[in-house]
Amino acid sequence: MLHAMADAFVSISVDSRRVKTGSGYTVAAALLEIDHVQFRRTSRFSTGRSLFCGIGSCFDCVVKIDGISNRRACITEVQEGMIIETQDGDAQLVPSRE
Ligand code: FES
Repeated sequence: MLHAMADAFVSISVDSRRVKTGSGYTVAAALLEIDHVQFRRTSRFSTGRSLFCGIGSCFDCVVKIDGISNRRACITEVQEGMIIETQDGDAQLVPSRE
């Protein structure tokens, strides 16, 4: 259990679910701790992706954090009040003109 290793805790939101996790954990560790293994879905086939390299190289673990897409969960540390969302497809890099 990862939770047993934490000295302090922070509150985060994962797909609208309030979660208490260890301060200093990566987002990936926090997600896996609650069995949230599908970090994003691909744009082409909507296939689930999760942690792969774990060192920030492959970008398989990207999630939306505080409204910003393509944040790598494996190298991003959780912060109090952080809002994490499963990312669907490609990130929208330029706001739409609708
Ligand atoms: S798992 Fe490869 S960049 Fe995060």
